[in-house]
Amino acid sequence: MLGILYGIGVGPGDPDLLTLKAVKVLKRVAHVFAAASSKNDYSLAHDIVREHIPSSTPVDQLAFPMTFNSEKLEDAWQANCEQVVEVLRQGKDVAFLTLGDPLTFSTFIYLMRKVRSRIPGARVSVVPGITSFQAAAACAGEPLAEGEEIVSIISGAKGGERLKDVISLSDSVVLMKAYKYLPEILSEVEEAGLQDSCCFISRCGLEGEVIERDFDKLLQMERPNYLSLMLIKRRGLESTVRSRSSLESMEGQLVGNPADVPAPVKPACRDRLRVVGIPEPAVAMGFKEKAAQA
Ligand SMILES: C[S@@+](CC[C@H](N)C(=O)[O-])C[C@H]1O[C@@H](n2cnc3c(N)ncnc32)[C@H](O)[C@@H]1O
Repeated sequence: MLGILYGIGVGPGDPDLLTLKAVKVLKRVAHVFAAASSKNDYSLAHDIVREHIPSSTPVDQLAFPMTFNSEKLEDAWQANCEQVVEVLRQGKDVAFLTLGDPLTFSTFIYLMRKVRSRIPGARVSVVPGITSFQAAAACAGEPLAEGEEIVSIISGAKGGERLKDVISLSDSVVLMKAYKYLPEILSEVEEAGLQDSCCFISRCGLEGEVIERDFDKLLQMERPNYLSLMLIKRRGLESTVRSRSSLESMEGQLVGNPADVPAPVKPACRDRLRVVGIPEPAVAMGFKEKAAQA
C-alpha cells in the first residue's frame, strides 16, 4: 500500500499560527520533506515546525533553484519527486512543508502534480495553512474584503505589470513576491495613482518585520526581503498600525506599541445576546417561555 503525501501549510512565520491539524500530522508521519533554496539549505518552513517533529523522524531538504528557467526547474522537481516517491512506495506517509498555504503560490503544487503523474493512484492530502497575506492584513489592520468586494491576488515576481490588468476590477489587490522588482512595482502603483493606498509588509510575524505605508520611504528601500508583499486598497487605507503585529505574546505581554493600534471593538454580543429579526422580549425571555405564553 502506498503512503499518503501530506502537503502541510505551516503559516507565514509565527509558530503560533500553525494549525492543530498540521501538528497532529507532523507527529505521526514517517518522513518530512521541506523545500530549500539551492543557494543555501535553510528552510524557514522547517524552522517553524521543528519542535513538533519527533527526533526520530527523518527530515530532508529538497533543493529547488531560484530561477524562471523551466528546464532547470523541471529537472530539479523530477529529482525531488523521485525522492518522495521512493518513500511513498515503502508504504510510509510523508509530509511536505510549505510556508503559508500549500495551494497558494507554493512549491507543493509542483510536487503534487509530479507525484500524481508518476503514481496515478497517489494518495494526497492537503492541510491548509494561514496565508502570508491573511497574516499581513492582520498585522497591518487592513480589511481585505467586505460585502461584495473583489480581491485579486497576483505575483510581483516579474514586476507589477499584472496590476494594470486587475486594478480596475478589484477593490483590494494583494501583490505577492514584492522584493526583486519593487521599483517596477512602485512605478505601476504610481501610474495607477495609488501611492497613498498601498501598504508594504515584510517578514510578517518574524524578526525584522516591516510595515510601511509611506510611499517615499518605499521608493528608497534597498533590497527588500524575499518575504515581502503589498496590499493595495483602491478606496484607501484605513489603519495606522505600523509596529509589531501581535498584541500579545505567549506570555500575554504587549509586544507592539499600543498607541499605534486601534482600540478593540467591543463585540455586541458580550453583554447581551441580540438575535437579529427576532423581537427583543423573545430573546430575553427565552423561546420556550415565549412559546408557553403564546
Ligand atoms: C512562494 S510564495 C509563498 C506563499 C505562501 N504559500 C502563502 O500561502 O502565503 C513566497 C511569497 O509569500 C509572501 N510571504 C510569505 N511569508 C511572508 C511573511 N511572513 N511576510 C510577508 N510576506 C510573506 C511573500 O510575498 C513571498 O515572496
